[in-house]
Amino acid sequence: MSEVTVVGLGPMGSKMAATFLDAGHEVAVWNRTASKAEPLLSRGARRAASAADGELLVVSQISYQAMYDSLGDERLDGKVVVNLSSDTPERLREAARRVAGRGGTLITGGVMVPPPGIGRPGAYTFYSGPKDVLDRHAATLAALGEITYVGADQGLAMMYYQAQLLMFWSSLTSLMHAQALLGTSGVGPLEFLPYARTLFAQLGGDGPMGYAKILSEEIAAGRHPGGENSLHMQAVGMGHVVEALTDAGLETTVPAALKALFDRADAEGRGQEGIGTVIESIRKP
Ligand SMILES: NC(=O)c1ccc[n+]([C@@H]2O[C@H](COP(=O)([O-])OP(=O)(O)OC[C@H]3O[C@@H](n4cnc5c(N)ncnc54)[C@H](OP(=O)(O)O)[C@@H]3O)[C@@H](O)[C@H]2O)c1
Repeated sequence: MSEVTVVGLGPMGSKMAATFLDAGHEVAVWNRTASKAEPLLSRGARRAASAADGELLVVSQISYQAMYDSLGDERLDGKVVVNLSSDTPERLREAARRVAGRGGTLITGGVMVPPPGIGRPGAYTFYSGPKDVLDRHAATLAALGEITYVGADQGLAMMYYQAQLLMFWSSLTSLMHAQALLGTSGVGPLEFLPYARTLFAQLGGDGPMGYAKILSEEIAAGRHPGGENSLHMQAVGMGHVVEALTDAGLETTVPAALKALFDRADAEGRGQEGIGTVIESIRKP
């Protein structure tokens, strides 16, 4: 089994290090706050002498600046840095150049599960960077979950990750608005849950409510037919939702922003198209 150094021992990095240990790898660990390494040392990990101590460095920190802070001015000759931290795609591309400037290679990634999911069935991580380098370490990284390679551009893994999180956070925020609204009439969150689950499942399915697929196909084709459910009708309906939330004494930042976006697409003259026409307004702020 190979050796891997885990840099950053927050909830994610700690679980990654434990998962590598469970898979039988030799694990070195480094964290800015050194005491967080203790539980892993007692499980057989080695304390790395520095953040650059090792040939395969798996980084999980709050941002890419943390990696720079951790590495200081250490050389990275021949080393592979797999950074699974969040940041912007542009900063990941810049990091690839900076790592290369010190003699190393950067693979970027976005882990699509929280700590308890790491190494479990269903776990996957978007990776980007040079495929041959990723392939050399695939057997080790596979301990964390499925490897989903999305391309050579180091910014791409983060774009996929952020695309998923954007949908995750905005749909969950809508769920909370929905629950808060129903709660004002005494409907409990668990009473509403079956309907929320039905909607989430239908959106990802193939039926008439399968809008993930319907919209993807329409956007790919560049056509947004709205014959039976026009954007204008939905903009008016969204306005009613915002009024209902206001009447119920709730805050409306996100719903009001949705209404503003729908209204703009409508005002731009595309009210008789379908909801997919909103992407044209998103593309031209
Ligand atoms: N938690 C999740 O569910 C989840 C899921 C997918 C992806 N992610 C991503 O995974 C990454 C890690 O997340 P996390 O939840 O483990 O915790 P986090 O709070 O994002 O990061 C904590 C880690 O960052 C280190 N750190 C922060 N600033 C630093 C600096 N200037 N120099 C050196 N180290 C620094 C901390 O060191 P100290 O211990 O010394 O403070 C700690 O090791 C994040 O980018 C996050 O977006 C998280």
